[in-house]
Amino acid sequence: MDRTLTLLGIESSCDDTAAAVVRLGQAGPEILSSQVLGQTALHEAFGGVVPEIAARAHAERLDGVVEEALAEAGVALEQIDGIAVTAGPGLIGGVLSGVMLARGLAAAQGLPLVPVNHLAGHALTPRLTDGISFPYMMLLVSGGHCQFLWVAGANRFRRLGGTIDDAPGEAFDKTAKLLGLPQPGGPSVEAEAALGDAGRFHFPRPLLDREGCDMSFSGLKTALLRARDALVAEKGGITVQDRRDLCAGFQVAVADVLAKKTARALAMAGERPTALAVAGGVAANKAIRAMLETVSAGAGVPFLAPPLRLCTDNAAMIAWAGIERLRAGLSYTTDFVARPRWPLDETAPALLGSGKKGAKA
Ligand code: KG4
Ligand code: ZN
Repeated sequence: MDRTLTLLGIESSCDDTAAAVVRLGQAGPEILSSQVLGQTALHEAFGGVVPEIAARAHAERLDGVVEEALAEAGVALEQIDGIAVTAGPGLIGGVLSGVMLARGLAAAQGLPLVPVNHLAGHALTPRLTDGISFPYMMLLVSGGHCQFLWVAGANRFRRLGGTIDDAPGEAFDKTAKLLGLPQPGGPSVEAEAALGDAGRFHFPRPLLDREGCDMSFSGLKTALLRARDALVAEKGGITVQDRRDLCAGFQVAVADVLAKKTARALAMAGERPTALAVAGGVAANKAIRAMLETVSAGAGVPFLAPPLRLCTDNAAMIAWAGIERLRAGLSYTTDFVARPRWPLDETAPALLGSGKKGAKA
């Protein structure tokens, strides 16, 4: 690398309006600013992200968030070398808001505009936070995504498998809803599970007997619903301990599937990765993390989980993916289209279903 690169990143593909400035200098990458404005309160009453509300909120807030990111970084637009923007996959209205703003800024300043795949942002984050080398294995587990990616280069991703229906975060959120726990469901179910008996209820582990590392989580919530209803039919309601035990049984089933499929993904790779990295909100779960660490240790591969604020949606990962693309000499162009679906690995078969936060590409 012959010179410092400073990129502005813009992310608006789901329910976070985000902008960040990342610089790559001689000493390595540095996040100069990262602003994330969530929309949880706007969507709370609807039990999921409403695309129209998300798009309008992004359109209204993006300018301000970009200004704050530049101010926090102490960098003027004139000092930026390029703009990276999420061009998909995601809720198209929000993606378009970001792309239009980025196009306008880039044209006005005469800057390169780099379209970034949101999933590539997540997948390349371990290089921003820990400087790891290619190739590595990435498990992306959030409310909208669940897939194993073999990351061999800035634009070389192989999807080894993923969920064929719900993402695990979605399953945690639905479980919380069924049991009357607050949203987001992950942290509340985890807290209950810590006080429960994971052996009392046995929930299904679908697709474990099937080859490969595809996963399914939608049957789990049906099983949980049945177990809850059986308790209600039997005793007229569920006790605090019943709820804890249900959460513990659910969580261990998710962890078990993720762990077994991770072991399989590592075996399928056919080559030794520099690390097993995780990203996404579900990676915050201590029980899941512990099981993944055990799998990693068993395979003799270092385990890596970037800090949570960089595991969940943010724009620093988009700016960084833009830097990676520029550095790798990948072409950039202004005539790209925003894509609601955009698989990282175009050769992998399409995943079924659509997550509550948009398409699972
Ligand atoms: O990555 P993220 O912030 O957003 C996207 O989905 O893009 O992930 C949010 C998801 C939610 O479904 C939330 O319930 C889940 O991650 N989550 C957790 C935990 N913390 C957040 N799931 C399990 N255990 C947790 N501690
Ligand atoms: Zn994401």
